[in-house]
Amino acid sequence: MSTSQPLGMPSIDPDEVGHNSSANPSFDEVVAARMNRRRLLGFGVASGGAALITACGGGGSNGVFVPTVGASPAPAPAPAPAPGAAPAPAPLSLSFNPVAKSLEDRVVLPAGYTATVMYRLGDPISTDVAAYANDGNDDPSTYDRRAGDHHDGMTFFGMGATGAWAPTAADRGLLVMNHEAITPAFLHPAGQTTTGSGTAQVRTVPGEVQREFYLHGVSVIEVGKTGSTWGYKRGSSFNRRVHTLTEMRLSGPAAKSDAVKTRYSTDGSKTRGTVNNCANGTTPWGTYLTCEENWAGYFRRVTATDNAARTAKELVSLNRYGVAGNGRELWATVTPDTSDNLYGRWNAQVTGASAADDFRNGPNTYGWVVEIDPFNPLSTPRKRTALGRFGHEGACLGPVVAGRPLVWYMGDDSRNEYIYKFVSTRAWDPADVGGGLAAGDKYMDDGRLYVAKFAADGTGTWLELKLGVNNITAANTTYAFADAADVVINARLAADAAGATRMDRPEWTAVNPVTGEVYVTLTNTNASSRPITATDAANPRFYNDPKGTAQTAQLGNPNGHVLRFSETNGDAASTTFKWDVYLFGARSTASADINLSQLGADNDFSSPDGLWFSQARPGLLWLQTDDGAYTDVTNCMMLAALPGKVGDGGAKTITNIAADGSTRQQGTIVGKAPGTATLRRFLVGPKECEITGIAESGDGRAIFVNIQHPGEDTAVANITDPSKFSSHWPDGGASRPRSATIVITRNDGGFIGT
Ligand code: FEO
Ligand code: CA
Ligand code: CA
Ligand code: CA
Repeated sequence: MSTSQPLGMPSIDPDEVGHNSSANPSFDEVVAARMNRRRLLGFGVASGGAALITACGGGGSNGVFVPTVGASPAPAPAPAPAPGAAPAPAPLSLSFNPVAKSLEDRVVLPAGYTATVMYRLGDPISTDVAAYANDGNDDPSTYDRRAGDHHDGMTFFGMGATGAWAPTAADRGLLVMNHEAITPAFLHPAGQTTTGSGTAQVRTVPGEVQREFYLHGVSVIEVGKTGSTWGYKRGSSFNRRVHTLTEMRLSGPAAKSDAVKTRYSTDGSKTRGTVNNCANGTTPWGTYLTCEENWAGYFRRVTATDNAARTAKELVSLNRYGVAGNGRELWATVTPDTSDNLYGRWNAQVTGASAADDFRNGPNTYGWVVEIDPFNPLSTPRKRTALGRFGHEGACLGPVVAGRPLVWYMGDDSRNEYIYKFVSTRAWDPADVGGGLAAGDKYMDDGRLYVAKFAADGTGTWLELKLGVNNITAANTTYAFADAADVVINARLAADAAGATRMDRPEWTAVNPVTGEVYVTLTNTNASSRPITATDAANPRFYNDPKGTAQTAQLGNPNGHVLRFSETNGDAASTTFKWDVYLFGARSTASADINLSQLGADNDFSSPDGLWFSQARPGLLWLQTDDGAYTDVTNCMMLAALPGKVGDGGAKTITNIAADGSTRQQGTIVGKAPGTATLRRFLVGPKECEITGIAESGDGRAIFVNIQHPGEDTAVANITDPSKFSSHWPDGGASRPRSATIVITRNDGGFIGT
């Protein structure tokens, strides 16, 4: 008999995993590496960073947009200034009063700003689906036409009257966003229905699993303004959900290799679905990149039975990526399976005679950057395997210069993982704007994959991940690399072999359009994963951040930091760089060796994650938090920043303090302390949410921000008692909380933040 019971999973951040067992030493224990100096021949970053892409006309809203809901009362907005003026050049200044930290169950904004809730979990995107009841009883078969859960990374593609990409369009566009994961407690009548326990625990209601299949993935929605109010257009022909059942083509070096052959695709040319889509990226030709982060945990692989059927190399790979366990949502356990293996494809165990008979290679078809063409709703997304397989947080496009390679920067978010970049073989040709996935085939399937190594003197090196170099050979004793497909599929093992620098969980990357400098959030780490003896210059802090009235110890780097680097000669394809630490998260009350950025009450934060530079206001950086360390004092937040440059601070020696009170000195390089002039808290979210994902309208006068999983710590046992929900945001009353996209505008119609 089925019983209604929780899955028995503690409420943990699935990011909180680490599988790097490599012996890569911290770099200050290593003799300074030889610098791979490459002589560059006269070229530079185009003025302003990005090459100018000529846009079509602005294009007016041509349809009726779904009225927005849940808006905080807004004064009648003043007429917006006429769009079309060129963005003002730097220097910018922050023009709002910072908001205080908050534990309230609402979105807090500075005076003069209005937030409107636009696109919530379950909202219909087609006209043949009913409004979301949000009581756990909505028809599972409708969820492929509803907003997914856990809204995350997001891009606004301005659209002109012809339906083509128009980057500066101010009042109409396609908003494309990731739906990273789910809060199962609120999706069904009383959480996930299961029976049994341990490896025998199984899901017993297929409809619940069907909902969850559809709630992951990506939304493409047409958005626009009715008057001055933004909404999405239900029934637009552009609206699309990409989810775990959407067919994907494998592209690049791993495509059609033996390691990606499955029962679904016996020639290894395709796979089904995308999952745990975290941060995002863009291309200069107008497509969207969605990044598969904590995909490994979705697969079921009971090691006690599967390990004996695996080769030694397979086991090294499976262990390095953490493919083990019952499967976090138990999707593989539904019986009977369908004829097309909807459930069984999440079972990564060896069950058949060959890879063509089962899904032992299913995990090798996940962990990629996936390209989607939002302007072509019928197109088949491509998994771009040349960019490597790992826990992809995001993929930020570097400065775009005609005649030069294209570059994407990427974090691998797990403890002690690495920072990567991909450099295209082909040089950028602006004639490819609008080229869709064919342009992706040209630039993203062939190139060089690198991983970062940071030296204590403030320099760094990009190490290429290619068969035959940097110990990535068949003679490697940890993993004998066979070919190019093997290297990209096992990019983490290749990076281990090359000697990359282990980091405190690399999350988003962002490129400053003014300087071309690259910023990376390192969200946090703990003492067991990175003890005090393993600090290095780029991951320099170890301390205690006592939490709450009980002063519970949080040891390690619980508040995280933001690192940045400047490529040699401003060339994104360079193999060397200089770096410093732009910001350190901390409580404003922490000691000087912890609060190294001298944060105050108006700008202190913890666990930086989302990170994005405005395109309309070059030089303006948005910083978002995904925190559990400072949440005794404040909910997660978003800050606006006007950062300087690498080297605007200087060398510093930190005194770290171990749990037993002993100290250890660590050198690092810190950026100039920001002060409130250049770093201010702009927004605080509702209870138990993460703030993640940001995009702006083509004129920069509206920003879209995602509020992910409000009330996520609500116990499943309390799902029948709304008085015990941690949050009722955004609908209020006794409602179940919902992830949602909000639109923020300034009441006087001005730019946001500056
Ligand atoms: Fe999905 Fe690392 O955040
Ligand atoms: Ca994130
Ligand atoms: Ca995070
Ligand atoms: Ca989250």
